[in-house]
Amino acid sequence: MLKKLFVSVCFLCLQQMPMMAQSKPLSDADIWALIKKMSVEEKAGQMTQLDLGVIAKGDICKLTWPQSIDTLKLKLAIQKYHIGSILNVGCGSGTMSMAQWQSILSDVQFYNHKYSKNGVPIVYGIDAIHGVNYTQKGTLFPQQIAQAATWNPALIQSVYEATAYEMRATGLPWNFSPVLDIGRQPLWSRFFETFGEDVCLAKKMTASAVIGLQGSQNATDQFHVAACMKHFLGYSFSLSGHDRTPAWISERELRTYFLPTFKKAIDLGAKTLMVNSGEINGVPVHVNAELLTQLLRHELGFTGVVVTDWEDIYKLVDIHKVAANKHEAVFKAINAGVDMSMTPNDFGYTEALIDLIKQGKLRLSRIDSSVFRILKLKNDLGLFQAMPQQAYPKFGSSEHAVLSYQVAAESVTLLKNTNQLLPLKSGQNLFVCGPSAHSLNALNGAWTHTWQGIDTTFNTQGKLTILQALQRKSFKVNYALDFQKAQQNGFKQYEKAIKQSNCIVICLAEQPSTEVPGNINDLTLPEDQIQLVKSLKQFGKPIVLVCSFNRPRIISAIEPDVAAIIYANLLSDEGGRVIADCIDGGINPSGKLPFTYPRYANDLVHYDRKYTEDLNIDFSMTAYNPQFDFGFGLSYTQFQYADLSVSNDTMHMAADSVLITVKIKNTGLRAGKEVVQLYKSDLVASVTPSVKQLQDFIKVELQPGQEKTISFKVYRQDLTLVNQSLKTVTEPGDFKFQIAQLSTSIYVQ
Ligand code: BGC
Repeated sequence: MLKKLFVSVCFLCLQQMPMMAQSKPLSDADIWALIKKMSVEEKAGQMTQLDLGVIAKGDICKLTWPQSIDTLKLKLAIQKYHIGSILNVGCGSGTMSMAQWQSILSDVQFYNHKYSKNGVPIVYGIDAIHGVNYTQKGTLFPQQIAQAATWNPALIQSVYEATAYEMRATGLPWNFSPVLDIGRQPLWSRFFETFGEDVCLAKKMTASAVIGLQGSQNATDQFHVAACMKHFLGYSFSLSGHDRTPAWISERELRTYFLPTFKKAIDLGAKTLMVNSGEINGVPVHVNAELLTQLLRHELGFTGVVVTDWEDIYKLVDIHKVAANKHEAVFKAINAGVDMSMTPNDFGYTEALIDLIKQGKLRLSRIDSSVFRILKLKNDLGLFQAMPQQAYPKFGSSEHAVLSYQVAAESVTLLKNTNQLLPLKSGQNLFVCGPSAHSLNALNGAWTHTWQGIDTTFNTQGKLTILQALQRKSFKVNYALDFQKAQQNGFKQYEKAIKQSNCIVICLAEQPSTEVPGNINDLTLPEDQIQLVKSLKQFGKPIVLVCSFNRPRIISAIEPDVAAIIYANLLSDEGGRVIADCIDGGINPSGKLPFTYPRYANDLVHYDRKYTEDLNIDFSMTAYNPQFDFGFGLSYTQFQYADLSVSNDTMHMAADSVLITVKIKNTGLRAGKEVVQLYKSDLVASVTPSVKQLQDFIKVELQPGQEKTISFKVYRQDLTLVNQSLKTVTEPGDFKFQIAQLSTSIYVQ
């Protein structure tokens, strides 16, 4: 009875269910007073995070669906182990309805209230990677790489605001997002989870994500959540490209490419951070005090919570082999700087931590500082407080669906359009096929309803695949659903339909996957998809290629065979409509590649290459030859740039900025958006400079014939490099600036 009452009162404000029912936030002194009263066991519990599977009915990873709490297991976790945090949906096994979430979260808080000695609330963390992907009827947004392709940071901030809102509506206050790893290894299975290869673009998107998730009051209100920057540091750049395999990254590279997004997020107050599961230069990051304490705490000034990644303290023993047993692993990870362990499937870590504290091997002051950070996070998130009941009418609303559509529409990137084949005229006959033609999963990718995103059971009702969206247009659509079968007999059964068609739309895809299950050994597009294009090419019809890939799969063998290429990344639930709208011209594409699209599997040179990477075997400077350049993307209209100028040709010490101005005009016949991209080149430096680097950008919309003047302010501190002493400095000398084909230069004193 008591429980029933408790649940109904808090129906819409689960995340605010107070355990200590404070009327106002605790002060730091209150938190320290609380810590003083806590036992060693209670402190170790606060530093423990369990997967939902441990306290749900059924065996871990063979859970009874729909999931519900096993009260005996939960009682043990709270009464004996005093656990401080829970995550996810039990082995990433499915999407729960709002009612299921409410039942689980209210059970957790109710039993914590009943059995916890100290009354400290439990904080629930979730991977809301592209929207609330584990809540049914929630809004799904394009994946991070597709967000970056919009080059529209303001729009992306709205995505994270909406995600935070829908998380709070579900009762979840802590998001394991955004991924701030830089995507400079395209083979990596999590490439699509990054904001791409470039530091300038990724930093702006980082700011959108952190501000969007945490809001202006740093996640203390009922509409925002704690961000978790991940995975610190260098996770994305393994040598093999396989997930969680060794990275060899010099400190200059770390500071030049991989650190700036984290620094940006920390400067903006990101509240939590997840550690890289892998190793850098032979040392697993989970035991690397230089990174987790020296760099993170002392240099960058991070004061928030550091959580491990999945099972990573155990992996120090089982996989990395840098600890002989659990106790040694816990000792090393805590001393390196970990606050909370995503253990997550048993209590072995908690028990080892208790032993180590009791034996005096781990200093209590070290433990207390972690517990303080964890309690402060809970306090900031309002978990200790009685908050007013809140309704969330925009959860899964058409307003959020429109936002998701807008992001996908600004993300879709037109890479080829021979003879202006696109947009197709209405009434045309189309033949459609390929693995993503009729699959919502292929448009969404991993972290969609389930961890790997392959299961179709939970797909959002009412969302259209590419095929369905094309069928709703004025086209006459024929299609082959099973492309492999159709291909086996040379499309015989479809011959008539293909011959009657004006155009063939081939929707290529990668199966959704992430982490180790997404490892591949070759970036080349799978052979059956190459053959699909080759077979259909025989019919002599123009081909439009639509690519929904997790990473830029090599298409050099088929690119000459097709007239148009729409690069979709992973556009999510609105992707079908967006692609159809792009094909019939309802949308004028404005996405630009946030990465260099490689032409060959072993030629993974980035646009911000060194001059030596330009040098060809015939000594010409033409070696850089990607399939498509970073920042590239076509439009159905044309833009012309003119009059690039700079306010001063010398940047003096005192006046430490210049204004760079350019005119841009829409010279075509329809409205369009263009990304004005400013690149810089440090012409001579003490360490080898890049040929060019993105300095700034802005997306503008222009009506036909309209002209705008765009200005960029460039500061002295924008022109830095990491020198031989690993210091970030601006060196005097000449700098060139480039917008489209125009360039100008300045001398920096
Ligand atoms: C992933 C993290 C994720 C965590 C919790 C790990 O395997 O590397 O990115 O946040 O699982 O689901």
